[in-house]
Amino acid sequence: MAAPQAQPESGSILTASGLTKRYTSGASTLTILEKLHLEIHAGQTLAVVGESGSGKSTLLHLLGGLDTPSEGSVRCAGVDLYAMNEAERARHRNRTMGFVWQQHALLPEFTAEENAAMPLLVSGSPRSEALRLARERLREVGLAARAGHRPGELSGGEQQRVSLARALVARPRILLADEPTGNLDPHTAEAVVDLIFELHRAHGLTSVIVTHNLAFAQRCHRVLKLKAGAADESPGAAA
Ligand SMILES: Nc1ncnc2c1ncn2[C@@H]1O[C@H](COP(=O)(O)OP(=O)(O)OP(=O)(O)O)[C@@H](O)[C@H]1O
Ligand SMILES: [Mg+2]
Repeated sequence: MAAPQAQPESGSILTASGLTKRYTSGASTLTILEKLHLEIHAGQTLAVVGESGSGKSTLLHLLGGLDTPSEGSVRCAGVDLYAMNEAERARHRNRTMGFVWQQHALLPEFTAEENAAMPLLVSGSPRSEALRLARERLREVGLAARAGHRPGELSGGEQQRVSLARALVARPRILLADEPTGNLDPHTAEAVVDLIFELHRAHGLTSVIVTHNLAFAQRCHRVLKLKAGAADESPGAAA
């Protein structure tokens, strides 16, 4: 099946419409997100906050094409993510989105450079070119000198920098991050937050960041607060 044609974006690069996620187990149904509407414009930073269990990761996964909604749709860069089949969605995801997780998810047996190159290597880019681009990103995150080190030889903050290099190596337009500073001490977290905003600007990204760090959230253009099945939005300080 051919990939669906991209539609004009009309300002929003990521749009959730009527997005609903439910889990059913036996007779009970748990509604995590209900009819959520969200339009994220190119260049925006959106923080997603809320209590544990309020559905932040669920929303991020749905926006990233990593889960399936119960109802509703997500349009990403003009394409309806869940109208595509898995393979098309994965291809679209690799081209348009970069991800950072709370646990860095770096592969322990590979160097920082190889880890940062991984999205290009798995999509079949020539190895030398992938490693060259990975080294470029590592330089941007201040880790040029650690390119040959394995994750176990790097600090938590450095590991998250490698994750950022990996997220951006394929030049995505959208950065999706789930508690990227959740495992870091406050000082290291602040440095990683500064770096995320710096990369956001330098790469012309649109960024969605799940965080428990309210100082981080307040630096974003928008703050979306999830509460069991509902959402409230307020502007951040950058608005
Ligand atoms: N596969 C599943 N089956 C049933 N319930 C699930 C499943 N996955 C997630 N949930 C429930 O969905 C709710 C939202 O989970 P989610 O991981 O999105 O929360 P969160 O806001 O990211 O929380 P945290 O801040 O702890 O990371 C939780 O109550 C969770 O138990
Ligand atoms: Mg979560």
